[in-house]
Amino acid sequence: MADKQAFFDHIEEGYTTKGESITLGAAMLEGETLTNALVKIPLKTMNRHGLIAGATGTGKTKSLQVLAENLSEKGVPVLLMDMKGDLSGIAEPSPGHEKIDERHEKIGIPFTAKNFPVEILTLSEQNGVRLRATVSEFGPVLLSRILDVSETQAGIISVIFKYCDDNKLPLLDLKDFKKILQYATNEGKEEFSEKYGRISPASTGAILRRIVALEQQGGDLFFGEKSFDTDDLLRIDENGMGYINIVRLTDIQDRPNLFSTFMLSLLAEIYTTFPEQGDSGRPELVIFIDEAHLIFKEASDALLDQIESIVKLIRSKGVGLYFVTQNPTDVPDAVLSQLGLKVQHALRAFTAKDRKAIKLTAENYPISEYYKTDEVLTKLGIGEALVSALNEKGIPTPLAATMMRAPMSRMDVLEDQELKALLGESKLIKKYNESVDRESAYEMLNDKIDIAEKEEAKEKAEKEKAKVKRSSSRSSSRSSRQNPIVKVLSSPTVIRSVLGILGKLLK
Ligand SMILES: Nc1ncnc2c1ncn2[C@@H]1O[C@H](COP(=O)(O)OP(=O)(O)OP(=O)(O)O)[C@@H](O)[C@H]1O
Ligand SMILES: [Mg+2]
Repeated sequence: MADKQAFFDHIEEGYTTKGESITLGAAMLEGETLTNALVKIPLKTMNRHGLIAGATGTGKTKSLQVLAENLSEKGVPVLLMDMKGDLSGIAEPSPGHEKIDERHEKIGIPFTAKNFPVEILTLSEQNGVRLRATVSEFGPVLLSRILDVSETQAGIISVIFKYCDDNKLPLLDLKDFKKILQYATNEGKEEFSEKYGRISPASTGAILRRIVALEQQGGDLFFGEKSFDTDDLLRIDENGMGYINIVRLTDIQDRPNLFSTFMLSLLAEIYTTFPEQGDSGRPELVIFIDEAHLIFKEASDALLDQIESIVKLIRSKGVGLYFVTQNPTDVPDAVLSQLGLKVQHALRAFTAKDRKAIKLTAENYPISEYYKTDEVLTKLGIGEALVSALNEKGIPTPLAATMMRAPMSRMDVLEDQELKALLGESKLIKKYNESVDRESAYEMLNDKIDIAEKEEAKEKAEKEKAKVKRSSSRSSSRSSRQNPIVKVLSSPTVIRSVLGILGKLLK
């Protein structure tokens, strides 16, 4: 009994906050929930990133839902990467259930059903606000990392961007980029080698093959206009609740490369456009990535480096990143070591390898005199998790096996009718989904090549004529077509810096 009181005091002291906080549930000892021993996470440390892990069916996605809702309620906007399409229910209130009431009685907080402002976004042709970025915005550095090309090839990619920048050629989609790549070793060969050095067709061929592979993963859907303005993720509704922006990614499971491309582009864009945050006491935006192993799966070393550095840097912009995955080992160590909040659901010990993973996971948690962490990890029930957070001073809070509260919104997905109604009300869909078919590098180069070819043909004909008439005459009009692109192309487009969104971030 004394033990229990001491534990209660230990939790109460460890989870008391001065500023605003969100409540996850109540602490448990030896399988029993201690009513009112509330586990509260200070808003102030929510930009310090986090992890929600656990075996399948243990409650990870519901914990994500709980965190998202409570942030929204406090006026913090949220972005959810919904891999399985099971989060749209946030737009409708929970129908309630006696089990939910029981759960909340144990925790000591009343259950209220509530819906939240939701915007549905998409990377593909599914219904929702289209998320796109132009190749210009993406920039040569990120493009090289995503394509995982050699240093020489990355150099060529930079030259292509520089050329387009110098000549005001908008690089909107991958078609544009492919066109200019081909141009650099065909019609534009002389011009390129004069200004930037010779470009080898073997290198452009290799780059081209990588681009085709990215296109096959759906990259052609992602690159283009109208590009998404990340400020639109920061909306607050008329009741002061943060918007929960859900990116439906159900069709992306088998396309990890496209997902990494999108994530990196988004994070880089946020990093460069959001202002530096002082000590505001609350995050600007919190991003949850469900099934996060997908961004790390198949990621090249260069890409992993990139992800790690962005994770580190984006915190100062008031942006928290939360990875949701089955096993903490799915997340690279360099990222794991930067995480402030950990919500660890049950792990299953079927094999020797599992037991080893559990031991390793347990060692990464603060030592507690109240728990044998590795044992607790296998005994947690559904919707229960080991929680360790950072207090307002940035010091780890006491380890707490926690009975998680239930989501206030629906745990199931929206019906088709409900989804339709939600999409119908969206202002952003109206803003982003009209198709833009602006003239860009592809069309402009085609026009140019066309003109140059016609000019050449005309010249040839004239020369032939002249030859017949006065065989001695050798007027050369070559100079007028030597640099055709520069002469003809001009575009009102203001291309962002040559380095694209990552220019400032990378050497
Ligand atoms: N906090 C909670 N409150 C009430 N019920 C919960 C809670 N967490 C989990 N559950 C119950 O457990 C079920 C499984 O939870 P959830 O979908 O979150 O698991 P998961 O770990 O994300 O599984 P998967 O690995 O398959 O994605 C839910 O449908 C719900 O019935
Ligand atoms: Mg899940």
